[in-house]
Amino acid sequence: MNNKNILEFPDGFLWGASTSAHQVEGGNVNNWSQWEKNNANRLASEAKSKYSLHQQNKFPEMFNPENYISGNAVDHYNRYEEDFNIAKSLGHNVHRFSIEWSRIEPEEGKFDEKEIEHYRKVIKALRTRGIEPFITLWHWPLPIWLSEKGGWELDEMPDYFEKYVKKIVESLDDVKFWITINEPQIFSGNSFLIGIWPPQKKSIWSYMKVIKNLILSHKKAYHVIKETLSDAQVGVAIDNIYFEGYGYKILDIFLQKPIDWWWNYYFLNRLSKHQDFIGLNSYFKKKFFLKQAKKVSDLGWGMYNKTLYKTLIGLKKYNLPIYITESGLADADDINREWFIKESLYGVHQSIEEGVDVRGYFYWSLVDNFEWDKGFWPRFGLIEVDYETMERKIRSSAFKYAEVCKTNRLKL
Ligand code: BGC
Repeated sequence: MNNKNILEFPDGFLWGASTSAHQVEGGNVNNWSQWEKNNANRLASEAKSKYSLHQQNKFPEMFNPENYISGNAVDHYNRYEEDFNIAKSLGHNVHRFSIEWSRIEPEEGKFDEKEIEHYRKVIKALRTRGIEPFITLWHWPLPIWLSEKGGWELDEMPDYFEKYVKKIVESLDDVKFWITINEPQIFSGNSFLIGIWPPQKKSIWSYMKVIKNLILSHKKAYHVIKETLSDAQVGVAIDNIYFEGYGYKILDIFLQKPIDWWWNYYFLNRLSKHQDFIGLNSYFKKKFFLKQAKKVSDLGWGMYNKTLYKTLIGLKKYNLPIYITESGLADADDINREWFIKESLYGVHQSIEEGVDVRGYFYWSLVDNFEWDKGFWPRFGLIEVDYETMERKIRSSAFKYAEVCKTNRLKL
């Protein structure tokens, strides 16, 4: 079999990176861009209490309100060909991106054909470079008219979503892989329970209602896509966390297991029979009440080598193909990224050997981008962007990842 230091991945394994519309395109007008304008000053003044001294010194832009306005983002809307040329040169054969609902349906029921054409061109640009598109239908922002009506709390929300999805799949009918919703857990929690994202609700009732609507919306979308495109593969991108056990039975039964069930498996259990694959976004390991890792990213998120492996093993029971639709870290100096990618891939390989059907890995993110309520300072990209000139520069870890993409092997 494998030489000890070379790990081969299965034939046809997909290698690439992800982005999302609002974080990279620029020029979006939606409920997020509205919220950013209203909250930029507050977010800038809260930076002092939110981030460590080390972070404050390293990223002084967090004190500037401009940091919190997505604005032109990285102008990917106009520069996608340049970005895809780089992805191709790095050996990527897959790319995940999202469609911006507010562009497609800027007014209720009025679809903008010009914007649909834009995404047709994006898909074509990928295909001509030999890169398979994975489309996320919804990665968080809403058209303003819809958020003003009540957004995800509306009884009619699943119907609105279904109409939008129908229009998209009928228009982009040569796409095979569809992700309906990005991270239902993070979105519902941040927006409706802890209230740090728009619409900043802190209500268990709103939270439960939104979860119900997310599940219904996924199911409706699943049916519409399958009816329209018989070859389509449909999934959701969940954000699973590895909750480490305590080794004390009682703590595990009352703490670790229920949290694990709610956060990691509730959506998947409710969506059974409505998904052809699982999209896994993986960033965290957690052990409550205990100190986090010594090794942390620029965001202060702990980096552990077994996170992805453990999270994948937890999904084995679903017996579905898994695509790792996000895995990455904020690392402006590019010091830990190569290590992080290799450790993650080592875990992916190990899980495949143990029978998990993993079929692809998408690093988050292809380019530096707008990190929601944190703004621009966290740098996740394989490609660094100069926000003044929009110039792109490939980070050295991206070349290391490219060696894996091009050879389908991980050299340790
Ligand atoms: C999201 C991305 C985000 C990334 C890093 C995921 O939760 O899908 O939009 O940029 O994590 O925080």
